[in-house]
Amino acid sequence: MAEVKLINVWKQFGDFTAVKDMNLHIKDGEFMILLGPSGCGKTTTLRMIAGLEEPTKGQIYIGDKLVADPEKGIFVPPKDRDIAMVFQSYALYPHMTVYDNIAFPLKLRKVPKDEIDRRVREVAEMLGLTELLNRKPRELSGGQRQRVALGRAIVRKPQVFLMDEPLSNLDAKLRVKMRAELKRLQRQLGVTTIYVTHDQVEAMTMGDRVAVINQGQLQQVGTPEEVYDRPANTFVAGFIGSPPMNFMDATVTEDGFADFGEFRLKFLPDQFEVLREKNLVGREVIFGIRPEDIYDALFAQVKIPGENMARALVEIIENLGGEKIVHLSIGDVTFLGKFPAESRVQEGQEVDVVFDMRKAHVFEKGSGKAVF
Ligand SMILES: Nc1ncnc2c1ncn2[C@@H]1O[C@H](COP(=O)(O)OP(=O)(O)OP(=O)(O)O)[C@@H](O)[C@H]1O
Ligand SMILES: [Mg+2]
Repeated sequence: MAEVKLINVWKQFGDFTAVKDMNLHIKDGEFMILLGPSGCGKTTTLRMIAGLEEPTKGQIYIGDKLVADPEKGIFVPPKDRDIAMVFQSYALYPHMTVYDNIAFPLKLRKVPKDEIDRRVREVAEMLGLTELLNRKPRELSGGQRQRVALGRAIVRKPQVFLMDEPLSNLDAKLRVKMRAELKRLQRQLGVTTIYVTHDQVEAMTMGDRVAVINQGQLQQVGTPEEVYDRPANTFVAGFIGSPPMNFMDATVTEDGFADFGEFRLKFLPDQFEVLREKNLVGREVIFGIRPEDIYDALFAQVKIPGENMARALVEIIENLGGEKIVHLSIGDVTFLGKFPAESRVQEGQEVDVVFDMRKAHVFEKGSGKAVF
């Protein structure tokens, strides 16, 4: 086990910057998720930790060991970094049995035969592969193959696991199951794990902490609750949560309202205090609120404080069975609400909606930085 540290790490491909000044400290035994849209630099970051890419600038530590520092000419090759990787395309050796696939990294390291046998069987037991040890990969389902690939990675008990979207080619149901299995396995082994995904549900359910990346730049690192409840900027706020947070242009009024032109919502006293301190009274801001924090007034279960009701037109309803995603508009301000299945809203009709102002966010216009 070991901590992993990236200090001011950059990666250039020609004049394209794939990773910009990344600072990330992954604690011993932690399950850290790298989350971000396609092309944001997740795989590149993971490959630098693995030693498959050399950073252009900066330092990478695994445990106490400096494994990469181009300025000092230090670059430790992958085989000497004591890491195990599972990639999206987990190529198994097709001519080898499950047993031999899992045993392979140990054979490579000349581990004695009886110890190999013991460890392969232990890992197979853990992953529910005991009955399948004599099969070839082509005789396995996708999920079973996935577990063999995981088995091959964990049989070695490395200091760090690096996983790049390892569940991406499983069907939805199997993915949910494997998510839980992987999480349990990581807890059990206690090995520091860095896990790449662009799936925010995977990130929120599996990670101890989530590092959100956009265009090669780290946006925020925090627990799933932190990045959901207190996003650092509009990118994180919009990336985490489904459907995404509503963003609405507003002006902060002298008497403590968010003014949207067509309607107004009153800030809570402590929120207005913060806006006043930051000199945002009279200024334009971005107001953010999640669809789940906008209620059909008939179904607002708790007494939500504040002057926070408005009449909206129901444009479109997406019925998801357990809930309804309702596209709403007030004048030319549009937003989504997540209503319970029992809500009787109809397309083309009006509905009173309640905004839970306790859950409201304000972001600076321009920078997109969170005020609260
Ligand atoms: N060897 C390379 N040469 C040039 N550009 C590269 C190279 N590898 C990656 N890139 C670019 O760097 C950026 C980051 O790529 P990376 O593979 O890290 O993205 P990612 O976050 O893993 O995306 P995805 O979710 O699609 O896998 C992309 O714009 C990509 O085109
Ligand atoms: Mg990738």
